[in-house]
Amino acid sequence: MTLSELNKLLDERHSCRAFRPDPIPKDQIEQILTSAARVPSWCNAQPWDVIVTSGAQTDTFRKALQEEATTGAPAPDLPFPTSYSGVYKDRRRECGWALYEAVGVERGDRSASAKQMMQNFTLFGAPHCAIVSSPAELGPYGAMDCGGFITAFTLAAQAVGVATIPQAAVASYGPFLHRFFNIPDDRLILCAISFGYADSEHLANGFRTTRAAPSEFITWAD
Ligand SMILES: Cc1cc2nc3c(=O)[nH]c(=O)nc-3n(C[C@H](O)[C@H](O)[C@H](O)COP(=O)(O)O)c2cc1C
Repeated sequence: MTLSELNKLLDERHSCRAFRPDPIPKDQIEQILTSAARVPSWCNAQPWDVIVTSGAQTDTFRKALQEEATTGAPAPDLPFPTSYSGVYKDRRRECGWALYEAVGVERGDRSASAKQMMQNFTLFGAPHCAIVSSPAELGPYGAMDCGGFITAFTLAAQAVGVATIPQAAVASYGPFLHRFFNIPDDRLILCAISFGYADSEHLANGFRTTRAAPSEFITWAD
């Protein structure tokens, strides 16, 4: 593969926030997971463990998650960022506003933006959800390895026309997820990835995020 082919794949991938209900064949999901697991990990520990929902299981999970998000208090296994300041705050705002603009939410309309945020807990209508966990004893480096796995999952999926969205929002409800999926307490639930075929016409999929220029993040030490 050339760099331009890889860049094409990287450019095509985006976070999908509206899915069609059609399921992905199980063997294709397994292919995506097999490809994702080719990423490096410290000591080749391969700390990711993935629970994949399909069909009625996804719908049962979606329903229970929506209820939890309405009635429960957030308690993620992995502490969420304490704040976003400077350029991080700016970038966070920019991608939030791009989404709200795409779906027609006016700036400052808190009720409409909260409603859009709640779409996280419908899994944006995806037919599948993958819950990614890492052994607690591997700490932040286990989480780092799983981050690479999550990225590779999104790219492998894109390569076969499957849309994805990593969702920290789903991981907000740690104790609920441990109970629902019977995940032992010695594993940290890091993130979910909802996936399926994109509803390309949906307004929520009608924008793309930008990236900082390399000069903004590279320091040449020579
Ligand atoms: C670890 C991680 C967690 C994320 N959690 C959420 C989430 O909970 N809800 C959401 O709408 N997007 C979530 N995203 C998607 C990001 O907002 C998205 O990747 C970013 O804005 C860049 O846009 P792009 O993926 O379309 O290139 C997450 C992405 C990552 C990598």
